[in-house]
Amino acid sequence: MYADGDELARALAQLHELPPLITSWEVLALKHLLAEAADGKRFLLQGGDCAESFDDCTSPLISNRLKVMLQMSLVLVHGLKLPVVRVGRFAGQYAKPRSADMEERDGVSLPSYRGDLVNGAAFTAEARRADPQRLIRGHARSAMTMNFVRALVDGGFADLHHPEYWDLGWVEHSPLQDEYSAMVESIGNSLRFMETLAGESIGSFQRVDFYTSHEALVLHYEQALTRQVPRQWGWFNLSTHFPWIGMRTAALDGAHVEYFRGLRNPIAVKVGPSVTPDQLLRLVDVLDPDNDPGRLTLIHRMGAAKVETALPPLLAAMKAAGRKPLWVCDPMHGNTETLGTGVKTRRFENIRNELDRAFDAHAVAGTRLGGVHLELTGENVTECMGGARDLTESDLARAYKSQVDPRLNYEQSLELAMLIVRKRGGAALG
Ligand code: PEP
Ligand code: CO
Repeated sequence: MYADGDELARALAQLHELPPLITSWEVLALKHLLAEAADGKRFLLQGGDCAESFDDCTSPLISNRLKVMLQMSLVLVHGLKLPVVRVGRFAGQYAKPRSADMEERDGVSLPSYRGDLVNGAAFTAEARRADPQRLIRGHARSAMTMNFVRALVDGGFADLHHPEYWDLGWVEHSPLQDEYSAMVESIGNSLRFMETLAGESIGSFQRVDFYTSHEALVLHYEQALTRQVPRQWGWFNLSTHFPWIGMRTAALDGAHVEYFRGLRNPIAVKVGPSVTPDQLLRLVDVLDPDNDPGRLTLIHRMGAAKVETALPPLLAAMKAAGRKPLWVCDPMHGNTETLGTGVKTRRFENIRNELDRAFDAHAVAGTRLGGVHLELTGENVTECMGGARDLTESDLARAYKSQVDPRLNYEQSLELAMLIVRKRGGAALG
């Protein structure tokens, strides 16, 4: 991928000396929370952009994404009566797997855009060159994102006493607003009631934890940030709390599996509809030989049309083998379609149906769906169709911003959180 080996080696040597973005304590704390989620004591909300871009490392984009996730987690905590583990697809989600190495436009062929960590999106030879300096910039942008998220969270942004901090101005007339406001009011009342009883303000409601995750795709980058730490054995990826292996790089004999095997982080793997029970069991044996609680999360992403046939055999095989991973549903990546106009989209209905069917498949198998993995943004985009405002094909042109996969906008994200609560309450989604 990189044309100049010396240039790459110099960038990696520099990266190797830079401080990590997170600590091993946080990594182990998250692992414990994920073990509890696998055990049915928590629910995982993992979400963010398909890919971050260096230009989008701005205050409003970061804080709006946080606002959406906070509102969704409020809905989930309130409705599921379970604590929620919040994990962002951010502070490092800068690399994308591609199905083709080259992209052709009007007879010109150039290397595919692989995410800002590797090259630029513009269709020029210069932009598409894999540039090692981008690894350093990716680390810096991730650190800036992480720093801002931590400052917001520590500064009281996530305080349950002030849910108005998370309001997004433009959603005033949302069809979901009344339901959400009623919930916020009821939570506020309970909080004041408990604090009156306790005679003091309850500190644990003033902050929440946010963890980070990304697809650990560019192993040069990941390895340079994989470190040993004092008083701990083994190796930690200190670029993110919770790295995952994408569907395209999950081969048992591939480099990514070999790298992940040696990490102490909790790790996740995307599981698509073509994976057989036997392949999955062998992969799990390699990645989690000790059946270690919290170590392994399996994120299934089958598509609404395939989930009912593809998922049950995997659940049955894992259960029969005594395996207890954290099962998470990504209802996005199996439901991407390209319209006649060439626009990539996803239908809310398919996203909802996949989740609905996944919950049912787990209920039948006697396993537990412990979380969701979503592509979402706090911006008012029109990238996915449907939802409460019933966005149609003609709406997509209005505010389609993603360079990669279509994301749920704020309203669609909140609606999905409400539907999950209804589903867990026993009803069908929608
Ligand atoms: C992604 O999460 O953006 C992605 C590419 O997913 P998958 O590996 O499941 O296709
Ligand atoms: Co994506």
